[in-house]
This record gives sequence, C-alpha cells and structure tokens, in this order.
Amino acid sequence: MVPLLDLKRQHQALHAEIEKAALDFLSSGQYVIPSGAHPAVVAFESAAARLLGAGHAIGVANGTDALLLSLRALGVGPGDEVITTPFSFIATAEVVSLVGATPVFADIQPDTFNLAPQAVAAAITPRTRAIIPVHLFGHPAAMGEINALARRHNLPVLEDAAQAWGAAMQMPGDSSNENIAASDSLKHCGALGDMAAFSFFPTKNLGAYGEGGLVTTNNDDLAERVRMLRAHGQRRRYVHDEIGYNSRLHAIQAAILNVKLPHAHAWNEARRRNAARYNALLGDLELVTPVERAGCRHVYHQYTLRLSSERREAVCAALTRAEIGWAIYYPVCLHLQPVYADLNGREGQFPQAERAAREVLSLPIFPELRDDEIESVAAAVRAGFA
Ligand SMILES: Cc1ncc(COP(=O)(O)O)c(C=O)c1O
Repeated sequence: MVPLLDLKRQHQALHAEIEKAALDFLSSGQYVIPSGAHPAVVAFESAAARLLGAGHAIGVANGTDALLLSLRALGVGPGDEVITTPFSFIATAEVVSLVGATPVFADIQPDTFNLAPQAVAAAITPRTRAIIPVHLFGHPAAMGEINALARRHNLPVLEDAAQAWGAAMQMPGDSSNENIAASDSLKHCGALGDMAAFSFFPTKNLGAYGEGGLVTTNNDDLAERVRMLRAHGQRRRYVHDEIGYNSRLHAIQAAILNVKLPHAHAWNEARRRNAARYNALLGDLELVTPVERAGCRHVYHQYTLRLSSERREAVCAALTRAEIGWAIYYPVCLHLQPVYADLNGREGQFPQAERAAREVLSLPIFPELRDDEIESVAAAVRAGFA
C-alpha cells in the first residue's frame, strides 16, 4: 500500500519543534492582531520575501484569497476580462468571477500543461485587464514570453504560484546558464510577475496545518493595498477606505510555517529525486513522463504522466488493485465546468487542455516516499501495460 500523500511522515520528522511552536502560540495569549501583523506572521512574511527575492510578502487566509486580494489591488472589476488557463483548479478562474470580471481562457502547452503564450496573445481584447499564468504541478509557466506580451499591452501579470513553492526559472536577460544545479542564476516563481499568490493548504509543497496563503509583489503600492484589503479595508484602526475582507494569515499557521520554511528546499529536492527515479523506471513505457524545460526548476507538486485514455483506465485499475494512491488533476477543464455554462464554452475549444484532462495521471511523489514504494508504484504502472 502506498498513499498518494502521507502528511504524518513529515510531521513525525519535525513534531518536537512544531508542537513547541504551537504550544508557545497557545500560551502566548496573543492570537489575532487586527492589522494582520502578528509577530509570527511578520517573521514568516520577512523570511518568505527574502527567500523568494520579492520586495513584499503579505500573509492572507488562503491561496484563493491571495489571488482575490491581488485582483482587487490591481483594480480588476466588472466589465474587465482576465486571461488564464482552462487547465487548473477552479480557484484560478473563480476569483476573476468573484471580483465581477470575466475569465477568458487560452489553451496550454502540451508538455508543461501551462498557458501557451501565443494563445494568450490571441485572447487579448480591449477589455483585457490582467493575465494569470499558473505554475501548474510546480513547473514554471513561460514567464519570459508572457511578461513581454503583457508589457506590450500594458497588462499586469498575476502568478498563480499555489503549487509552486520553490520553483524557479531563468528569465531573459539572466546569464545564460542552463545548469539548474547552479540555482543562484534562477529567479523564484512568486518574483517573476507583478504579483503572485501562494497557497499553504496542507497538501502543498510548503503546507500549513490548516488554511494559509501569501501575496508577493515588488510594488509598494500594491503591497499596501493588499495589507489594507486583508483587514477590512482599513489603514488606520476603525477607519475604512474601501470594502475589504477578513483574510489574515492565522498566527498559529505562521508559527508552524516558520518551523517548516527552512526545510522546504530539501523537501523539493527529495521530490525532484523521486521524479528522476520514476522517470528512469517508467521511461521505456508508452507514456509521457513529466518534462522539465531547460532553465526551469520543476518542484513536482504533482508527478503527472500522460497516457492514452484507454491505457489510463487500465493503469488506474492496476494501481487501485495494488492499493496505490493516484489522482487525476484535473478531469474537467474550467471552460466546461457547469458553473461557467454562461460563458458558452464548448468541447474542442481548447484541444490541448481537453486532451490533457483525458490523459493525465498523478502518482505519489511526496518527499518522504521511500525507494521501495516508488518501485511498487512503478511495478503497478507496468502491470497496467501487461
Ligand atoms: C492552482 C491553484 N490555485 C489556487 C488554489 C487555491 O488555494 P487555497 O486552497 O489555499 O485557497 C489552489 C489550491 O488548491 C491551486 O491548486
């Protein structure tokens, strides 16, 4: 039996420090600071900003709110269009609808599952107000091309980095070093666009013990607006400049994240090793193993194979028989979701995204996965080909 994800193993490794941080919080008597600037939150924000190379990091209640508050800070609202991918978790498009704007989808690159820049270019209209690339499964989106396009049209880029803590890439203009081991030359996802949103949902590469999120930006005004919006639109206590939200990062989650943050790089390295092991064990089969483009650091939030839909059914059955966890992220594209019926999305509109929805299969990849478990998973995949 191999679970898709086992969070207990990570907790076991750090339980003494995490339990101490949680108990210290419980006995501190200081649980919520109205502005959101609890010392544990401020400590996490500073460490995260430094690590990501972002000017500001602002803790919020979850990744969905990180996107939502960013769109509000950018001034996106009714009548506006926001271009994003149809192959993502619902939150990416949901926030566009929540601010009263319309999501406009553009097709993906088949190898990375991320927004295709030329499809974004074709989707721009006079109403476009922002672009949201998603670093899906932990692989950086094509930020060089997307930023260049956005600059030509004077549009802000909001990175959905929910699945991409620690992912990085070389940006145009950086020294041309394609050796990803020399990660000093790479820039982190979250510091590539105008704003970025992270999620600390427990299953993420850096996960809290409940909900949590973060907005990053280099722009002082946008940072100030997000700080205000997360605390009911107030700059000064009980003086409210606009309708905001109750969306602070919980201090106990920040205290736990402060313990976990220094380990995130090693966990991502372990995910990368696990991915390399799967690639070696599965490479001869009639399937496509995940791609890491040159100059990119993939952090394998998911290890996602592609295989024909008939083969996928057989492999899923073999995995289930062997009691191995698996998942399909995502079986239904966003343009075909019932909630977006009014956008008149149709089958065949985004062929690459729809094909991905039919062909993807994610395997266990969490950092604490053992080699013998990886071998069992690979053997079960192989059994699906027998
Ligand atoms: C791509 C993507 N965007 C946004 C979110 C929203 O994050 P949260 O669940 O923290 O609200 C998620 C989380 O599942 C996600 O995977």
